Amino acid sequence: MAVLAYAEHIDNPQVLSHALNRTANKHVSLDVRPEQYDIVGKHLLASIGEVLGEAATPGLIDAWLVAYQQLAAIMSGAQADLYSKSVAKKGGWRGWPPFVIKQKM
Ligand code: HEM
Repeated sequence: MAVLAYAEHIDNPQVLSHALNRTANKHVSLDVRPEQYDIVGKHLLASIGEVLGEAATPGLIDAWLVAYQQLAAIMSGAQADLYSKSVAKKGGWRGWPPFVIKQKM
């Protein structure tokens, strides 16, 4: 549905900025990485092809691929900003560093 919303507002994705920001924050909280967008995109397009059957012409699938890649680039860029901000904070980190429990209440 998020990709469909993007396609519907492809000329003015700014109207989706609140949802995009929220989703980028969710992805960052889960350590979603740029390289995973290709995997999700591959399977999303396969699903679109399967659901649409014969209506999924090569031109239509190509158009969805372009739209998906645009959205993936926007999302990855927003996430890169958030990851950098997290690392730059005092005590900030990225990924899964080891932590030491110092005290149990
Ligand atoms: C352009 C591609 C993508 C779009 C449009 C998209 C969109 C979304 C949206 C709208 C949400 C819900 C956010 C919320 O809770 O407010 C979400 C959550 C999530 N996304 Fe994505 N996503 C994309 C790519 C990815 C990729 C590459 C991964 C990594 C495998 C991923 C993993 C997840 C996970 C794990 C959640 C949380 C699901 C849950 O809370 O149950 N997404 N995504």
